[in-house]
Amino acid sequence: MSYIMHDHYFKKAKDEGYRARSAYKLKMIQEKLHLVHAKDRILDLGAAPGSWMQVVLEYIGPQGSVVGIDLETIEPLHDPRAEVMIGDVCDATIQDMIVSCGPYQVVVSDMAPKTTGSKITDQARSLALVEQVFHLADRCLNKNGSVCAKIFEGQDVQAFVKSISHSYAKVALFKPKASRGESFETYIIAQKKKL
Ligand SMILES: C[S@@+](CC[C@H](N)C(=O)[O-])C[C@H]1O[C@@H](n2cnc3c(N)ncnc32)[C@H](O)[C@@H]1O
Repeated sequence: MSYIMHDHYFKKAKDEGYRARSAYKLKMIQEKLHLVHAKDRILDLGAAPGSWMQVVLEYIGPQGSVVGIDLETIEPLHDPRAEVMIGDVCDATIQDMIVSCGPYQVVVSDMAPKTTGSKITDQARSLALVEQVFHLADRCLNKNGSVCAKIFEGQDVQAFVKSISHSYAKVALFKPKASRGESFETYIIAQKKKL
């Protein structure tokens, strides 16, 4: 079943011109939760090859913009609303640069660590990335802004959700249908940042 799903979204992405089948995960999140709006400035962390940026561009209208950053090169989107950067989101200098390009109305992160085969290690590394995402959001997300961040399911996820729940009006986990074929990922959706 999961391989059929995998293949389905892979083919669909190719047919519809998206750079990766992960596009459908963000589309499903957006359809359900309406995180992105016209005129928004969006920060996309772990954005290569750029399919989430393609999706975001569909929702932000002519006055919105998106900044995508990844360890890998993101091929240009040939759209004046889209900027791409290469860098490690965990690096302090890169974080300062990201903050200086803000503020943002939405931060999305599809970042994932390279998997090692050890579930415990992979979960810990995924959580460490998500901590960086929320640390950055503290610095550059507007009041009432939202965060969508991929995390590998594990025993520390609920504790992390609890730790950020005082900073956002609503925090929940959401696993889009297009993610079901993926082993153990889910998305933390934090909405309406306080302050
Ligand atoms: C699943 S892919 C993202 C796919 C993307 N959302 C899309 O739809 O095209 C995860 C990305 O996270 C990036 N990544 C992982 N750790 C990172 C880090 N510390 N800084 C920047 N990017 C990172 C990886 O290089 C990889 O390209």
